[in-house]
Amino acid sequence: MQIEVLLGTDEIAKRVKELGEEISSDYADKDLVAVGILKGAVIFLSDLIREIAVPLEVDFMATSSYGQATKTSGVVQLLKDLDTPIAGRDILIVEDIIDSGLTLSYLSQLLLSRKPASIKTAVLLDKPDRRQTEFVPDYVGFTIPDEFVIGYGLDFSHKYRELPYIGVVRN
Ligand code: IMP
Ligand code: MG
Repeated sequence: MQIEVLLGTDEIAKRVKELGEEISSDYADKDLVAVGILKGAVIFLSDLIREIAVPLEVDFMATSSYGQATKTSGVVQLLKDLDTPIAGRDILIVEDIIDSGLTLSYLSQLLLSRKPASIKTAVLLDKPDRRQTEFVPDYVGFTIPDEFVIGYGLDFSHKYRELPYIGVVRN
């Protein structure tokens, strides 16, 4: 398998720092809970929260993955819920990538029903060409073309999450 680098380590770090600064100014005096979506968002989440200069809590949710496929089945399944109640709190969902938008629209609807003070979403990558919903994320690291990407948390068949860059698979 050939991997072509789409976004290098330094470029990602620079953009994550900028996002952290933007989030820090938006969440001054808020009660921030950063909700990472397992497993893809773990690398982005851990880098992002270290660039956020306001106090926060971290929690996690997990949704069904694509398994072996590179396209969504269209059905989102909740595999792990939050540990913490979120009523009245400011929720920032942190996700690796928005593709069809089904995962983020499902999760924000679900969390909205618990009456948080606010809900926003931060995604490292946005593939707008593939959107099947109206969902618009609040913070976007990079907008990318419609290609299957791996690394920096993103997997292909459960592998390659550990790559320190974002790559495109070329066969
Ligand atoms: P959506 O529900 O279609 O927006 O899909 C979002 C989820 O699909 C992400 O959390 C990723 O886990 C996965 N995903 C979408 N595109 C890619 C990709 O190019 N590489 C790896 N995972 C992807
Ligand atoms: Mg994911």
